[in-house]
Amino acid sequence: MSAEQDGREIPRHIAVIMDGNGRWAKKKGAMRIFGHRSGVQAVREITEGCVELRVDYLTLYAFSTENWSRPQKEVDGLMSLLINTINTELPTLMKNKVRLTAIGDLQGLATGVHKKLLVAIDKTSTNKGLNLVLALNYSGKWDLTQACKTICVETIKGTIKPEAIDEELMSDYLSTKSIPDPELLIRTSGEMRISNFLLWQLAYTEFFFTEVLWPDFRKKHLNLAIDFFNGRERRFGKTSEQLDF
Ligand code: FPP
Repeated sequence: MSAEQDGREIPRHIAVIMDGNGRWAKKKGAMRIFGHRSGVQAVREITEGCVELRVDYLTLYAFSTENWSRPQKEVDGLMSLLINTINTELPTLMKNKVRLTAIGDLQGLATGVHKKLLVAIDKTSTNKGLNLVLALNYSGKWDLTQACKTICVETIKGTIKPEAIDEELMSDYLSTKSIPDPELLIRTSGEMRISNFLLWQLAYTEFFFTEVLWPDFRKKHLNLAIDFFNGRERRFGKTSEQLDF
């Protein structure tokens, strides 16, 4: 169930496609990595905003499986930025009782990055506040494929019967197992696509698109997204009339 605050329904899970760092930097005549570094302030703002609004889950699309095809210098810069940010923000995460987790093909990250990430995940594991989920080396197609593979192996072993495969079982084999589906997706920079994010999990999510470039995203924009969410009629396939009962 979503919580209410100031008469507004607060989504339980917000997912974000943080887009526009490169364009933000270009507008300033700076290198792309400067845009990514400036995006960290927006990460702080949205995390703090979600803590204040008592959102349960915030999932940030930080690095997709397709992002490896960017120039090596940018990939290296992004990886260092991720690790440095996790290290420097750890005390604040602890203070705010934020529990850090990650989804994606984490084995595919460089060993150093993977290890540091696991340390931070472990340190925050007993925190009871906001669950901050970093999607790293993640894509929706990867997630569905890895779930499918595991289910096939279990089926061959006989631990899963084919007739037991249903939507609930599929959800249990995705990397988001035990995380409720997002109720609200925010994408910045004016682009309107899913970009291989949570393909299964976004089935009934409300989408909020804004022209704001990610490094400029602040709490006031988060609040606009929540206002938009409150204006939506969530029908889940039913008619408006059915919802009145
Ligand atoms: C997309 O903008 C952004 C990314 C691929 C990376 C997002 C990463 C950060 C904000 C760094 C810090 C994150 C955390 C969680 C510590 P883009 O480069 O595609 O922008 P463009 O479309 O304007 O080129």
